[in-house]
Order: sequence, then structure tokens, then C-alpha cells
Amino acid sequence: MNKPAENKQWLLKQFVQADEVLGEQHYEMVSSPMPTIGDQQILVQTLLLGTSPAQRMYVTEQRTFHIAVEIGEVMSGRGVGLVLESKHPDFKSGDIIQATLGWQQYVALTPDDKTDTGKNVRTVQKVDQPVRPLTTIMGLFGQLAFSAYVGIIEIGQVKPGDVVLISSAAGGVGSVACQLARIQGAAKVVGIAGGKEKCQWLLEQGLCDAAIDYKSEDLVTAIASHCPDGADVYLDNVGGDMLDAALQNIAVGARVVICGMISTEYLNPRPDGPKHYFNLLYKRSRMEGFFVFDYVPRWPEFEIKLRQWYSEGKLKLVDDVFEGLESAPIALGSLFTGGHTGGCVIRVAEDPLEIPSL
Ligand SMILES: NC(=O)c1ccc[n+]([C@@H]2O[C@H](COP(=O)([O-])OP(=O)(O)OC[C@H]3O[C@@H](n4cnc5c(N)ncnc54)[C@H](OP(=O)(O)O)[C@@H]3O)[C@@H](O)[C@H]2O)c1
Repeated sequence: MNKPAENKQWLLKQFVQADEVLGEQHYEMVSSPMPTIGDQQILVQTLLLGTSPAQRMYVTEQRTFHIAVEIGEVMSGRGVGLVLESKHPDFKSGDIIQATLGWQQYVALTPDDKTDTGKNVRTVQKVDQPVRPLTTIMGLFGQLAFSAYVGIIEIGQVKPGDVVLISSAAGGVGSVACQLARIQGAAKVVGIAGGKEKCQWLLEQGLCDAAIDYKSEDLVTAIASHCPDGADVYLDNVGGDMLDAALQNIAVGARVVICGMISTEYLNPRPDGPKHYFNLLYKRSRMEGFFVFDYVPRWPEFEIKLRQWYSEGKLKLVDDVFEGLESAPIALGSLFTGGHTGGCVIRVAEDPLEIPSL
């Protein structure tokens, strides 16, 4: 292979403060020499990078998260890569892998190094029979979909006839959650999203039966009108006032699933909790949170089902691809400004292989 001479990387320049929007100003793009590999290592080209709101916690000064990026280090992030060169017996040139690649074009990885630094060495997974487009790996067969799966199927226990309410429905987790609720037989899926265009998109894509624009509608009234007998399941990605509005509109025996709280999680100080939690008692309901990484041993099982639904046409890929490594800070920032629909993915390099879809 003709190795390129340089490796573009985004390094952390400054920590993000609680009241700041995450953006390009927090990073610096540099050109570094190409990495070289030693025994038991693989050289990987980054093809795709996923995004997650949790990445904001990597770059705050308070080192509260298990992954913490220091000033001058490559920004951490998981992605899909192509093995260019291998000195490891289990990997060969041309393999597609998932790993914490970081915001860079090329990286040398040590697959057997299980040191939990959270940076570049953790959990290198070979992707067997990768489905094209490769963005499915980040979206439908990856952590976003696994989170939706746990939220809707494991904790939410959506069953035929349920009315399901989902916040941030036009996002990565939300857009898959809407589809999984349908697959489980929900009678009605109501999505909440920011702006008329996103609501329109939810309906046009067939993800929801009804959509509520929290930016222009009164949430409590709108939820009550779309869920007159209350929501049987509420998947919460947003928290704060949205959780409170949902709690005022739950059905008897509801399952309130806490997947995320993007509206309040990154504030300092964090606001007080929901006022309307007493409805959990009045409606004999439960509220339960989850962490998708607790389900790692079951990810293969989830993936088999997701792949099957995808091949049957019951599940579709809806993602927003930001082009080029240069777009990484903007793509990540869009999770906090709402500037994307579906799963938010960064394409760092084109998929070099031509393999038919399922
Ligand atoms: N529990 C777990 O293990 C787990 C795993 C993965 C993700 N999560 C959580 O799942 C949620 C969704 O993650 P994702 O990666 O799929 O992100 P996403 O939903 O694709 O993107 C975040 C969305 O949140 C909405 N948002 C941002 N700030 C908001 C605010 N102040 N008020 C209301 N809405 C706001 C925006 O949508 P609008 O334009 O509609 O406002 C934005 O597009 C996050 O809370 C994340 O932390 C949890």
C-alpha cells in the first residue's frame, strides 16, 4: 500500500464550559506523521465516526466521566475503520472493524490491549459480513439502536396496543425507537421534536403517527390531545420540563424509561428533579433508567434481531452524514443544537469496497 505521508487529527484545544455550545473553537486540527505498527498491532483507516452526547463529558474540566480527553490529545470517539496493515494473527488487510478510533484519519491499534483507558485501545471488534452502507454499523446495528432496543423492548416492554411517546424522536436513538415501537405492535407512536420541519420529517418518514413540536406547542396540552388515555410508555431522551410534561400524561401502569436527559445533564448546577413524579404513584407506574453498556453481552442477540428486521424491510436506516473529518466538531455540536435528523455520523473516508446490500 502507498501510505499517505500525513495523518489529520483533531486535538482538544480547550475544555467546554457548562454554558457553552460545543464547537470548532474547542479543537485544533493538526497534521501528524502517519502511525507505524509493531508486533500484535493493526494500522486502521477511519471510515466513519459516530457521535454521542456523552462525548461532551469527555471534554469538560471536571473529570467526572470514565473517558476524559486532556488538552492536546486526540478527541476520543468510536467509529468504523478499514484495516490497512496487520501484524496481528486475527486481523488482515481489508477487514472492517469497530473501535475507539479517535478523531483522526489513521490510527495504530493493539487489539489485545484491554487497558481501559477509554482512548484508542479498547474493544476492537471485527465486523463480520458488514452490511452496506457501512453507516448501518453506527446506526441500526450499533449502540444507538441497542439503546433504542433496551429502552423500547427490554425496559419499556412495549406490547401490542400500547401508546408510545418518545422525546428527541428525530434523533439517532429516537428514530430507531419509533420504529421498534411499531415492530412491537404499538397502536400509536407519538414523537416529540424541535421544530416544524423535524415534525414533518417524522411523519414523512413514517416513523410516528403524530409529532409534537416542543418549540411552538404547549407540551402538556399537546401530549394530552395525542394521548387522551395517557402514554403507556414514555422513552425520555431529554429530561427536564419534557419529562415533567410526560409524567402529567401517563396511563395507569405506564413505563417511563430514562434513556437520557440532554436538556439538563450538562448544566451546572443541575436543576431540581421532576415535580410530577407523584403520578407514578397515582398511575401505579414505574420509572427506570438504563445504561446500554450494561447490556454488552447481549449486543450480538440484539444485532441479529435488528439485522433481521432490516432485511425484512421493517426497519430503515435514517441517518445524517456529515462529510469529512473537518466536520466532526460541527456534527457533534449538532446534537446539542438539533442540527441533524436521524443518527449523526461523520464520513471520514469513502468505503473502498463494493459489497451488495442484504
Ligand atoms: N442510556 C444510555 O445508555 C444511552 C445510550 C446512548 C444515548 N443515550 C442518550 O440518548 C439521548 C439521544 O442520544 P442520540 O445520540 O440519539 O442523540 P440525538 O437524539 O440524535 O441528538 C440529540 C437531540 O436532542 C435534542 N436536544 C438537544 N438539546 C435539547 C434541549 N435542550 N431540549 C430538548 N431537546 C434537545 C435535539 O433534538 P431536537 O432538534 O428535537 O431538539 C438533538 O438533535 C441522549 O440523551 C443520550 O445521552 C443514552
